[in-house]
Amino acid sequence: MRIGIVVYSKTGNTLSAAKELRKELSNRGHDVSIERIETKGDPEKDPKIELKIAPLVEGYDALIFGSPVWAFRLCPVMSVYLKGIPSLAGRKVALFVTKELSWKWLGGGVAISKMRKLVVDKGGKVVSSGIIVWKKKTGASSEMPRIIKDLVDPFV
Ligand SMILES: Cc1cc2nc3c(=O)[nH]c(=O)nc-3n(C[C@H](O)[C@H](O)[C@H](O)COP(=O)(O)O)c2cc1C
Repeated sequence: MRIGIVVYSKTGNTLSAAKELRKELSNRGHDVSIERIETKGDPEKDPKIELKIAPLVEGYDALIFGSPVWAFRLCPVMSVYLKGIPSLAGRKVALFVTKELSWKWLGGGVAISKMRKLVVDKGGKVVSSGIIVWKKKTGASSEMPRIIKDLVDPFV
């Protein structure tokens, strides 16, 4: 299966998680690409978000979208991106977010729900989702391998 992992990652954590996902999916025989969303300005400073690079979803059989949590919500860059993509009808989609604070309910669940709604609005079929806690000092939580496995298991 040709799988696209599309991420927004400002400081690299979400991108690192995407690389782990790519490794796991490649080991299972999938053809996997990581594509990064890029903005024109700094989305932390400028509330009007414009995308410089909005990866195309058309060439993929299945997609994984990854984003950081910002201010207890989905990072708005991912919202803007998902609103702008064409139909995902008939395609399997997995979702993940990375976040700094340990408690998943502090924004992680809200962010995943928002992504799920935006993907379902485009006709995509959400098959898995995960929240990865990533600390500045200690890196990804020890739960990451299990979360990655749960994310990729439905892609057979
Ligand atoms: C503007 C901003 C807001 C953030 N808000 C939250 C938050 O509400 N909850 C949380 O757990 N982490 C929050 N974080 C931390 C990021 O979600 C976390 O570091 C994430 O892994 C960053 O992903 P990236 O390295 O791919 O950009 C915030 C980071 C930034 C820059």
